[in-house]
Amino acid sequence: MDSKRIKILLMGSGVGSNAKNLLELGKNENRVEFLGIVSDKANAKILDLGAEYKVATYIYPRPNEEQLAQLIREKKPDWILLAGYLSVLSKNILAAMRENTQERSRVLNIHPSLLPSFSGLKAYEQAFNYGVKVSGVTIHFVDEGLDTGPIIAQKHFYREESDSLEDFIQKGKALEKELYAEVFNKLVEGKISIQGASRWIRSI
Ligand code: GAR
Repeated sequence: MDSKRIKILLMGSGVGSNAKNLLELGKNENRVEFLGIVSDKANAKILDLGAEYKVATYIYPRPNEEQLAQLIREKKPDWILLAGYLSVLSKNILAAMRENTQERSRVLNIHPSLLPSFSGLKAYEQAFNYGVKVSGVTIHFVDEGLDTGPIIAQKHFYREESDSLEDFIQKGKALEKELYAEVFNKLVEGKISIQGASRWIRSI
């Protein structure tokens, strides 16, 4: 494998629709190599993508952080892309990535709300139950906090009067794929850096 390729580790806890989207984008992109798919849930569907896309899978149930830190030190990913990973990454993991990439953070997360509103779990449900008229999705750098790292990009959608929670989630999930594709393409072109991110809302 070409060592100049951008090495990406995917991490998720659920179905893996965002991971699949990224793996599909990677199929036509020879500047990228997916090193593996890490999950903290042994029965997560995201792990099935390993066989489908011929990518290694790793199961590290929390709190087995040392195994993940070890994987980072061995495989040296350039980026970690969180795709529905529902645990908070510890300082140790972020430190292992910093050591590896010599940058403040090369870990990105997709979150299903317009941060800083509705951080944490079940963000679509939180926003829907709050009664928002506009919601959206965010990709941000990961720091030690809960969904607090600098924002890279956001997309919004409108909630219609007649929208059920299901409709609301579907609108968001479709935007997640669009937004991750845009950020992935910029990442491949070397245009994503923490210096370029802002705490203020902006879209790419
Ligand atoms: C996605 O909606 C993602 O935004 C969310 O988990 C879902 C995973 O779906 N992430 C978070 O809530 C992170 N706090 P997927 O497994 O189909 O990609």
